[in-house]
Amino acid sequence: MRIRRMTAVAALAVVSVAACGGGETDSATEDMPAMTAAPVPAPDTTGAAIWAHLQGSDYQANWGLWPGKGQLYTGGEPHGMLLTTYMNDAAMEAFNSGATTMPEGAIVVKENYMPDSTLAAVTVMYKRSGYNADHNDWFFTKHLPDGSLDQMPNGMGMEGRLPGCQNCHQGVRANDYLFTSPLGGGGGN
Ligand code: HEC
Repeated sequence: MRIRRMTAVAALAVVSVAACGGGETDSATEDMPAMTAAPVPAPDTTGAAIWAHLQGSDYQANWGLWPGKGQLYTGGEPHGMLLTTYMNDAAMEAFNSGATTMPEGAIVVKENYMPDSTLAAVTVMYKRSGYNADHNDWFFTKHLPDGSLDQMPNGMGMEGRLPGCQNCHQGVRANDYLFTSPLGGGGGN
């Protein structure tokens, strides 16, 4: 009995020494990520997280325009007269490689402008695997120019599985809910 207890104490001592050693190793490895560019984490499926991600990415400067579309191109109903549409890198790579669906993490941002070129709204489609299998896993948001969410008549912010957006966009389900131009063409080259 007594011997066993001694062994237990000794074992505890070993464990705590190992824990100290582990602690030192951890602090050494903590320095390493700073040396490599950390990948930008995928935003959460909230309007606030999406908006913060767009601003943090400086998407207007760093993302590409939808291939074949310039800035302030003429749009149709319901989004407005003048549109500018951006894709993040994941979406652009998929589009240019001729994919027929967008991958996890793809983000498409469409800015809606008034006829006098003032920004009226920013709409977003963000693909998250497993988010909404019935509608190709798209998360939708609609923001006012200051970044706040536009509101539905019941006062709810426009983010998420928005029936209005989904029901119209599913008309182009075969094109992964995207209207602007056909996927699968390798960038229209
Ligand atoms: C009545 C149909 C309709 C509704 C409702 C609608 N959209 Fe669209 N959406 C379109 C069309 C059509 C386009 C292509 C725009 C163009 O080129 O004129 C488009 C384009 C887009 C795009 C660019 C990607 C693409 O599909 O080509 C985004 C992003 C978008 N819509 C988001 C939204 C969001 C968010 C909502 C809901 C708040 C919404 N849409 C509601 C028809 C609709």
